[in-house]
Amino acid sequence: MSASTANPPVTVAVSGGAGQIAYQLLFRIAAGDMLGPDQPVRLRILEIPDALPALEGVVMELQDAAFPLLASVDTTADAPVAFEGADHALLVGARPRGKGMERSDLLAANGAIFQAQGRAIQARASDRIRITVTGNPANTNALIAAAAAPDIPRERFSALTRLDHNRAVAQLAAKTRAAVGDIRRMIVWGNHSTTQVPDLTHALVAGEPATELVERGWVRDEFVPTVANRGAAVIAARGASSAASAASATVDHVRSWALGTPEGDWTSMSVVSRGDYGVPEGLVSSFPVTAVGGDWSVVEGLELDADVAAQLRASVAELEEERDQVRALGLLG
Ligand code: NAD
Ligand code: LMR
Repeated sequence: MSASTANPPVTVAVSGGAGQIAYQLLFRIAAGDMLGPDQPVRLRILEIPDALPALEGVVMELQDAAFPLLASVDTTADAPVAFEGADHALLVGARPRGKGMERSDLLAANGAIFQAQGRAIQARASDRIRITVTGNPANTNALIAAAAAPDIPRERFSALTRLDHNRAVAQLAAKTRAAVGDIRRMIVWGNHSTTQVPDLTHALVAGEPATELVERGWVRDEFVPTVANRGAAVIAARGASSAASAASATVDHVRSWALGTPEGDWTSMSVVSRGDYGVPEGLVSSFPVTAVGGDWSVVEGLELDADVAAQLRASVAELEEERDQVRALGLLG
């Protein structure tokens, strides 16, 4: 493996490397889709000891793909080793939801993983570290990781709601027979769960307000439930949770954060609330954000439609319940 450009490599740590999402994600990162075509990467892949043999097969395949941007690949079952000097930490490794399970069922099972990884990131990562939690329940896992790493600025922690955002864009594009590239200013608010709030009231379709192109009844009865329940629909159909689209959304999330959002548009990203839009400070909630030079800002001053505001209150209530549950489990201290 050798990197062909002059930029120094960036270190990307990925947990859950032998899993379904990582099987797509690692290859997209190595191809330059996440950090750009001139940015070499060093991959550090974290797995549990039992999965290291399977991970070796993934490493062979990364090698066999001969990616010019892939400077090195290392594997480990030791979190502090994985996060040593890391610039990006993609926390994917966790137990996924099975048929009939709610994300909240995963809190206890997965919370401890994110506490240990938060501590390891604080102890070892680069001071440029940016953390993206994909493993579910993603928002509350990010809250746990942030609580375990109090010396890292809060704005460096994020959770993935880009998949929900992409799903919402795709549904609106299909409904209006537009190209996905013609949709701008979509929003997903709240938790990455069935209480999430896909919001097209500020969206534009080829420059026209979406609200003038679709009926309110469609938004309420089809758009919102389809997007919010898409994860369960994929599980029911595939017998396993979404993986390729989740990997693609993780790539999109980090690319937008690191390389910036396009002029005149924004994306949805779960970040630590500073009290924006009535979301209590400290909760990890999805917001519309713009990003420049590796820093994001919540889009300010949007007026919330009454339905959206009510749905957001319900999603925030769920985030508060999850926070209280993990606090009771001793995962926030
Ligand atoms: P998977 O079971 O195929 O892979 C998970 C991997 O994580 C496994 O290889 C497992 O050994 C590993 N792992 C478990 N504990 C670990 C630890 N402590 N350290 C390192 N690795 C560990 O699951 P998947 O399909 O890749 O999904 C991963 C996670 O992503 C799940 O929690 C899933 O629910 C979530 N997910 C989130 C979104 C989203 O939009 N936020 C979308 C899809 C899936
Ligand atoms: C998804 O949204 O596809 C994932 O979070 C999987 C799930 O559990 O819904």
